[in-house]
Amino acid sequence: MPTLTPPSAALDGYAALAAHYDDFTAEYEYDNWIDGLERLALAHGLAGKRLLDVACGTGKSFMPFLARGYEVTACDLSPEMVAAAEAKVAGLGVELFVADMRELPWVGEFDLITCLDDSVNYLLEDDDLARALERIRRQLAPGGLVVFDCNTALTYRTAFRAQFVRESDAAFFAWRGEGSSEGGLATASIDVFARGEPGWVRRTSRHVQRHHTRRAVKAAAAAAGLRLVAARGQLPGGRLEAGPDESRHNKIVYVAGREEEVTA
Ligand SMILES: C[S@@+](CC[C@H](N)C(=O)[O-])C[C@H]1O[C@@H](n2cnc3c(N)ncnc32)[C@H](O)[C@@H]1O
Repeated sequence: MPTLTPPSAALDGYAALAAHYDDFTAEYEYDNWIDGLERLALAHGLAGKRLLDVACGTGKSFMPFLARGYEVTACDLSPEMVAAAEAKVAGLGVELFVADMRELPWVGEFDLITCLDDSVNYLLEDDDLARALERIRRQLAPGGLVVFDCNTALTYRTAFRAQFVRESDAAFFAWRGEGSSEGGLATASIDVFARGEPGWVRRTSRHVQRHHTRRAVKAAAAAAGLRLVAARGQLPGGRLEAGPDESRHNKIVYVAGREEEVTA
């Protein structure tokens, strides 16, 4: 079996960003987004409330499910991101653990498995996406569904080439898109200047992502024993619409089920 390339870039990136992640993403409209994702999954047969959120980060992607009565298990590659999630949900019955999704251990059966906010774009090697999806498929309960999203060509042409700054009460953020390489990898760096005592503390994280095209996603899902049952284009604010388009939408959201259980 081929050895896995260590996910050093993602580990280092999120170790540096974890303490400021929620602040940096404060404008993301998770409630709207999760509402649309849940409705999409229900329309495709979601019939239970056992959720596994893979690459959960600080918990922003599972909190709205928790509020909707889901029984939540969640994991992330980054110990720092998991620690931030843990701090939010102490005593609420959420099971959290650290794991690389490509080597996800078996932790149970789930009606819904999510992997959200371009988490799979951090999988950089050829077989990584299929490997992660196969680990995810194993933990689907009968009739269970996987929901995940990928950044589009539009996002890599725009955000990953742009520069912007944002300020909050606690920090000043500088995003620098560094563009794409010939191998299809795109990089951006985020400098966080946090207000300290005294002065400012600077932390830099680099984010290396791979553009998984629709064709690549379909092939990886098939290799993992999954079949895509829906794809939606995502607009800013988390709005989903039919007709996913790599050059018009920021992300494409995919819904998949076990190959033997769903029809194309
Ligand atoms: C943009 S954040 C999204 C986090 C969360 N899902 C959310 O919506 O806020 C991407 C997450 O993917 C995680 N990640 C990257 N590579 C991973 C891997 N191989 N296995 C598990 N998690 C990974 C990172 O640690 C990070 O927390």
